[in-house]
Amino acid sequence: MVTIDPERFRETFERYSEIGRTENDGLHRLALSEEDREVRDLFVSDLEDLGLDVRIDGIGNTFGRAEGTDPDAEPVLIASHLDSQPYGGRFDGQLGVLSALETLRAFDDEGVEHRRPIEIVNWTNEEGSRFKPALMGSGAFTGELDLEEVLGHADADGVTVAEALDEIGYRGDEPVGPREEYHSSLELHVEQGPKLEEEGLSVGIVEGVFGMAWLEVTVHGDADHAGPSPMYSRKDALVAAADVVTAVRRLSNRFADDVVTTVGELEVEPNSINVIPSEARFTVDVRSYDDAVVAELVEAVEREVATACEREGVEYDLEEIWRIPHTEFSPTVAETALSAADAVDASHRAMVSGAGHDASYVNEITDTAMLFVPSVDGKTHNEVEFTEWADAVEGARVYAETVRRLADA
Ligand code: GLV
Ligand code: MN
Ligand code: MN
Ligand code: MN
Repeated sequence: MVTIDPERFRETFERYSEIGRTENDGLHRLALSEEDREVRDLFVSDLEDLGLDVRIDGIGNTFGRAEGTDPDAEPVLIASHLDSQPYGGRFDGQLGVLSALETLRAFDDEGVEHRRPIEIVNWTNEEGSRFKPALMGSGAFTGELDLEEVLGHADADGVTVAEALDEIGYRGDEPVGPREEYHSSLELHVEQGPKLEEEGLSVGIVEGVFGMAWLEVTVHGDADHAGPSPMYSRKDALVAAADVVTAVRRLSNRFADDVVTTVGELEVEPNSINVIPSEARFTVDVRSYDDAVVAELVEAVEREVATACEREGVEYDLEEIWRIPHTEFSPTVAETALSAADAVDASHRAMVSGAGHDASYVNEITDTAMLFVPSVDGKTHNEVEFTEWADAVEGARVYAETVRRLADA
């Protein structure tokens, strides 16, 4: 069994959490921002201190490789992400990267021999908040997203992914994509939902992830004065958008229990108290474990947009900007995680994830699974996001032991 060092793990977590820390103990570390550069520098120096061979690819994915005793064996990939949501939490992503780092430190300390090489990875732009879509680095790496296309995606200020990578000095030389076959992959993450806490369990063994689609809608109305313009003459872009917002909320009731639908972004032009809105741009996020239901949801949203815009007499553009099918992880890796959890005596259950994870794309190229640790009150994408430290440690113990087993398999 591998023995991790809970104190070192916590100190490292606290040090990383300082970079982009908010007043309320959250984390504001958007992909490819100055804070992201700073945390990447720390990550690289920690990998170098461990004697790992560090590589950075053309989309900023950062790898550290620990050789195994068998140079010809396929490596195990252990990964998560260091970017955050705007005013998000400290645990989302970061806890997974630091569990992987602590695992390699523990192996190093104790001279744990592993047959397979192990590669630790920080994937670029998991969150998809500053640059869409999410899971960008892992998607480009596995070929599920087109590299050139995503490098050209711009943030709200018109800065492209390529420019932001150059700006922070993380557009690496390494070609984007696997250099060899991997044996397997494992990602630890916070649950971001309430189930583990409700059931008093330490670890979730994640067997799958919801499928999802992201839509971007722009409604084109007509600006006019809020006073003299009669109500009957108006073409109010926000009124049409507002109808869609509430319709999207109600849509989930028409489908199964596990269907979730969200409008998360809304921008209004010219955004002035006494001007009828000329433009409303908003996003829609729909999710289900059933891909056919995701397809139906997308069609239903399209109908709602058409109906609302017709009612208001306005035009619109609708674009599906991302879709990812549901994921079924590798039963073999999940079983290895389950036996490791039993070996370290951690309570656990199997579950699926409503949140998207890089592990979904990684699962396309190698046998993959995930471990979850509990989120207090199930809260996430919020500064209050919290995981009890004892749970984080329990998760890291299971993680390290699972990685040891995978690396010797
Ligand atoms: C992406 O990570 C998501 O769950 O939105
Ligand atoms: Mn995450
Ligand atoms: Mn997240
Ligand atoms: Mn996520």
